[in-house]
Amino acid sequence: MVIIMNDIKILVDKIKENRNITKEQLEELLLIDDEEKIKYLFCSAREVCDKIYGKEIYIRGLIEFTNYCKNDCLYCGIRRSNAWADRYRLTKEQILECCDKGYELGFRTFVLQGGEDMYYTDELICEIVGDIKSRFSDCAITLSIGEKSKKSYQRYFDAGADRYLLRHETADKAHYSKLHPNELLLENRMECLRDLKEIGFQVGCGFMVGSPFQTIDTLYKDICFIKELKPHMVGIGPFIPQHATPFADKKAGSVDRTLRLLSIIRLIEPCVLLPATTALGTMHPQGREMGILAGANVVMPNLSPTAVRKKYELYDNKICTGDEAAECRSCLQNRIENVGYKIVTGRGDFKNV
Ligand code: 5AD
Ligand code: FES
Repeated sequence: MVIIMNDIKILVDKIKENRNITKEQLEELLLIDDEEKIKYLFCSAREVCDKIYGKEIYIRGLIEFTNYCKNDCLYCGIRRSNAWADRYRLTKEQILECCDKGYELGFRTFVLQGGEDMYYTDELICEIVGDIKSRFSDCAITLSIGEKSKKSYQRYFDAGADRYLLRHETADKAHYSKLHPNELLLENRMECLRDLKEIGFQVGCGFMVGSPFQTIDTLYKDICFIKELKPHMVGIGPFIPQHATPFADKKAGSVDRTLRLLSIIRLIEPCVLLPATTALGTMHPQGREMGILAGANVVMPNLSPTAVRKKYELYDNKICTGDEAAECRSCLQNRIENVGYKIVTGRGDFKNV
């Protein structure tokens, strides 16, 4: 037993020390079926995170402001071909109301997320960002509105946006083309991420775990891409089929594999901001708590008006669609305290140590 546990200790230490992983090591960690060993992986990653972020968990208020999208990603419930999606847009005033509510609840980061909706011109986005910034100057603004030109990104940054989330979805070209229609290209996505970094945004990339056609090879490429890009954040959550998409009948990604990947990313990039995602919470009632115990340090409860929440249906059975912002805030607080951590009020910036 001791000898067996030695293997995993040596392996985890090596990855931690090198801040890198080989494909063979990745495969080994993803295929191990000894629960004790996996526990060791999770605990080691949590320890690495504790050294940098302590027992503090950062909180972001997610505002899903439009579910119109010009794209047609095969996995996503708000793809343009989904005629059943009940489309909505929030006005600037509605968005500001969400921020008001969020601010009172202690949020100091607002994440504006939406489909790629051309109704929101660069001008309008900048106006919204500017208004939020002037009302809440101590808050960070994160945008998550897809692929734009470098010029547009620069405008958002100049208007006051601090961070940008754009999951790369997969770093393997052939895999990317199986998840997306022809007009979307991996090269373009990667260029967007590099542009965002150059401009000075804190940048988040990421991918779904268990997306159709994903293999250990494609996951290894995801990790290599993360190593190369050096993002401030990495968003990963299980793929969950949505009934009105071409992937309706595909298998969902596993909670266990998501947790292992969270840990692996934490070992390789100790400072990175890692959310325990809503998708993880959807796949398992304690998914987000388990994510934290495997090395995640961010949660992103929903601040969108309850009336529209069900409509932002990227995947089926999404949790929290009936809850008020305040309910999610206190629910998460309890959950996090139950596993020995605490939510902190503050912008929750990336720590570079
Ligand atoms: N299951 C899980 N995650 C999804 N996303 C989109 N559709 C799904 C799905 N069916 C993720 C994508 C996107 C993010 C906003 O949500 O990774 O980048
Ligand atoms: Fe929304 Fe628990 S986080 S109800």
